[in-house]
Amino acid sequence: MEQPKKLSRKKALKYLTFGSASVLFAPALFTTSCAANGNRRQGSYLSYSAIFNATYPFSLDPLPYDDDALEPYIDTKTMEIHHGRHHQGYINNLNNALENHSNLQSMTLSELVAGLNDLPDEVQTAVRNHGGGHLNHVIFWNTMTPGGSSATGRLADAIDRDFGSMENLKEELKSASGGVFGSGWAWLAADNGGSLSVVQTPNQDNPLTEGLTPLTGVDVWEHAYYLNYQNLRGEYVDAWLDLVHWEKVSEMYEESLGE
Ligand SMILES: [Fe+2]
Repeated sequence: MEQPKKLSRKKALKYLTFGSASVLFAPALFTTSCAANGNRRQGSYLSYSAIFNATYPFSLDPLPYDDDALEPYIDTKTMEIHHGRHHQGYINNLNNALENHSNLQSMTLSELVAGLNDLPDEVQTAVRNHGGGHLNHVIFWNTMTPGGSSATGRLADAIDRDFGSMENLKEELKSASGGVFGSGWAWLAADNGGSLSVVQTPNQDNPLTEGLTPLTGVDVWEHAYYLNYQNLRGEYVDAWLDLVHWEKVSEMYEESLGE
């Protein structure tokens, strides 16, 4: 049987079409069933395969740290609402969209997002918004850690090769996140050959739809920072840069190389 990560990688490589119709998606439309009642159940970091190869029905994993673990950079209330309400809302809506499409229920999350342009018309927008929303947030939670960490191995080498230094990469991420008009994300992503780039995506689009593997990303929807930072997105992104779990991102990069 083929290894899950190989399946994901090969499938992802099939889909190189990028179509990012910018569909405005308001958090107020979420059909949430999970109250932001303080998700105190600390989980563990998900593997690369667990992140990309999850299948229907999708579920919300506990954060790999306590809700208050990222204070003061990201406040506890924001974490509770962001994870317990917003992320849960994407999952609920994704499951609802796939409920009557049994032929799509065996597809992995990465296959759905990478190949969304080939999905039936009636589910494309839902997978773009809610499948992307689910995947984006799983990556976000799993590539932060209190105090941050350092890049290692081939990722550290690739950062120096493709950006000159970690500081340059951080500047590019900050610039890209500041340049997102409205809601969206800024990502560090790898192409099929392992070359790194910083890319933006609107709304809940994911680099997988462009044929790139996302390694880490910063959520610049206002729901990610408004309680603590109001309009000061740049200060929030500076805080995020201090929380990036580069050691986990290094593991993600190794897995993405598929060797
Ligand atoms: Fe978010």
